[in-house]
Amino acid sequence: MAFDIEQTDELLSTTKAVRRRLDFERHVPDDLLLRCIDLAEQAPSGGDIASRRWLVIRDPETKSKLAELYRAAGGSDIIKRAEDRRGTGHPKEGVVESAAHLAENLERVPVIVIPTIWGVHDGSGKPGLFDSVIQSAWSFCLALRARGLGTAWTTLHLGKAKEIAELLGIPEGVTQVVMLPVAWTIGTDFKPAARRPASEIVWFDSWGYTKQNLGAEPVQGTNQGNSLLEGMPGVSVEVDIAASPERVWEFASDINIALQFSKEFQGAEWIDADGPKVGATFIGRNERADVNRKWQTTSWVVACESPKVFAWNVNDRDDPSAQWRFELEKIPVGTRLRQSLVIGPRLSATGTAMVENPDQAAKLLSGRQDMHRGNMTLTIHGIKHLAEAVG
Ligand SMILES: Cc1cc2nc3c(=O)[nH]c(=O)nc-3n(C[C@H](O)[C@H](O)[C@H](O)COP(=O)(O)O)c2cc1C
Repeated sequence: MAFDIEQTDELLSTTKAVRRRLDFERHVPDDLLLRCIDLAEQAPSGGDIASRRWLVIRDPETKSKLAELYRAAGGSDIIKRAEDRRGTGHPKEGVVESAAHLAENLERVPVIVIPTIWGVHDGSGKPGLFDSVIQSAWSFCLALRARGLGTAWTTLHLGKAKEIAELLGIPEGVTQVVMLPVAWTIGTDFKPAARRPASEIVWFDSWGYTKQNLGAEPVQGTNQGNSLLEGMPGVSVEVDIAASPERVWEFASDINIALQFSKEFQGAEWIDADGPKVGATFIGRNERADVNRKWQTTSWVVACESPKVFAWNVNDRDDPSAQWRFELEKIPVGTRLRQSLVIGPRLSATGTAMVENPDQAAKLLSGRQDMHRGNMTLTIHGIKHLAEAVG
């Protein structure tokens, strides 16, 4: 059987957390839920042991108690946060508003479905528990969506898992994983969310090794002549820092402070500019002791958005031999700092060596990626150390 790829992709990309568009009035029949659970049970499980058990809750009083527990476990905080943020234009205003709507109305959904599994985590790291439920529960969400129903993946209630076990008679030795409020959706049109493209979060053959130009037309530049280079290979490294993006930015945007940790860095200075801004240029001096090589480059700042992104292109603004980038993302613990490098499109020293020695190209590339990854890791950890230092 040939699948309709367009429809399948639509299903996969638009099965979203539905909260404000759950129809509280329309009945959801049991046979429909059982059909979706039968489909969900096709998901893999550790040891192929059928240990999942599903609770379907319709009783109004039980739903009310579940809703109370959900609010006690954090739902009330979300309701409060939504009130505080209402009208502020905060980037998460919409999500929090939606989550608050669910927290306020959980008892009104026609059914609450709770997938569980026999077993408790023993800390062994072996498969068979959460990883035998989640894929199945998600299949259930997809099957619902395909039929015009929706749900939201919720876990807040797990803070009250013991009370919920008592309420529902769940025995010792059974683990709860997620709670799914299920309803018909109001309208069936949902849009994919903005997500980080795969090319930025997929590592090829080794952690952090990227390809920026997958399947697309070769980037116009001087890199033609080697298929590995035409894929625009690179390296990305990341670290979580317990400091605000503003504080991390101070170090990441200072070329002498940020880059000093790389073993190749021998200093940098701004040319006709006194700091980072788009269009500013700086000279960087580098040295590689392993091949006894010193060199100097001019770099163009191509992005400078405090406290989010600082990027520069090396040797030529529009046809660079390397593209460097710091990205700062605000996360609950502080900042996730990412440094990335894309090699090319203009031939760099590595690129030239690869074109001249095609048999050795893969080895030359991975050797250079390895070296960059080492230096970049030193760099982001150096910045972490500075940013987390008190004072
Ligand atoms: C592990 C996990 C826990 C979640 N817990 C909750 C929750 O307790 N309450 C809630 O309203 N949404 C919860 N969500 C839903 C996310 O907020 C939602 O997936 C996210 O906002 C992205 O929206 P989308 O699923 O529509 O793309 C959870 C999602 C995941 C993956």
